[in-house]
Amino acid sequence: MSQVLQALPTSNSAYAEAVNSRRIINGKDDVVQLYPIIHTFAWESYQAANANHWLPTEISMQKDIEQWRSTTALTEDERHVIKMALGFFTTADSIVANNLVLAVYKHVTSPECRMYLLRQAYEEAIHTHSYQYIVESLGLNEAEIFTMYQRIESIYDKDKFVSELVQDILDPSFKTGTFAADQKFLENLIDFYVIMEGIFFYSSFAAMLSFRRRNLLPGTAEQFQYIMRDESMHMNFGIDMINQMVQEQPELWTDTFQRRVINKLSRAAELEEAYAHALMPRGILGLNAESFRDYTQYIADRRMLSLNLAPRFKVKNPFSWMSEQVDLTKSKNFFETRVTEYQTGGALEWDDF
Ligand SMILES: [Fe+2]
Ligand SMILES: [Fe+2]
Repeated sequence: MSQVLQALPTSNSAYAEAVNSRRIINGKDDVVQLYPIIHTFAWESYQAANANHWLPTEISMQKDIEQWRSTTALTEDERHVIKMALGFFTTADSIVANNLVLAVYKHVTSPECRMYLLRQAYEEAIHTHSYQYIVESLGLNEAEIFTMYQRIESIYDKDKFVSELVQDILDPSFKTGTFAADQKFLENLIDFYVIMEGIFFYSSFAAMLSFRRRNLLPGTAEQFQYIMRDESMHMNFGIDMINQMVQEQPELWTDTFQRRVINKLSRAAELEEAYAHALMPRGILGLNAESFRDYTQYIADRRMLSLNLAPRFKVKNPFSWMSEQVDLTKSKNFFETRVTEYQTGGALEWDDF
């Protein structure tokens, strides 16, 4: 009944009761009735995302095209980073979007969370558009980029790792409402929001930010910075949704489940480190390939902390400049500290970093 229009409430108290029973999943309220908003984090995320709208085609690729055509502006290693990062992201964003629209949305019963999911789904389409725009502008081989996940083991391994659970949730007969199903759904949220969007994107982001710092491929790097901003928002929304779901259904957060999550995040850090080495086998743009172990472990620890789990690795962040640019703490107002602002009808301006 939660997925369809509900009967008219017979009194204000019946209305209040319906709204107060709002849940991330298995809610009893009417999913088309937005007000009053109970999950305020979702509404705030939706508003913040709208205030930061952007489109790839607003960004000039002229300088990028000149540098890509030049025989001296970029090394072969740098070209490899661009192509492989695009190869990873084209599949990753598609996998995230499919999971969101075909699996997650159906089971979420909070109208305000659904509002944000719709916005997020559109942003994932913008990201895929962005990769296509870069590939086309630079004249890259589309078949090479868009099929890279089938040929590069470290990309395939990451995609496989997060995709394994999707099949259960995608099954048309999958229903929430039992302990096992709800826990599986919760795990799906962790796989996508925390591992895929919160760990697996970050080596590529670090590499892309490094291009920006050296004023290489500025149009490509600018788009990736917008994507990073969106993805940080997706991750933070996901973590809020996960923590809210655990608050609503604390029985799901068993010791065994917590251990499984910690192990998965640790395994994800290993896969991301392997990917980083394939991305930058000799290091690049001042980034030492070896330091990516510390970086991915540091990121995994931060994600564990965000889920109120004890960190496993306890290492220092070797790329402290990334914290300032991407991985902001939730205590900060994310959008007030961004280096970019979307200005409707105006130029996109950047500060140095
Ligand atoms: Fe995305
Ligand atoms: Fe995303």
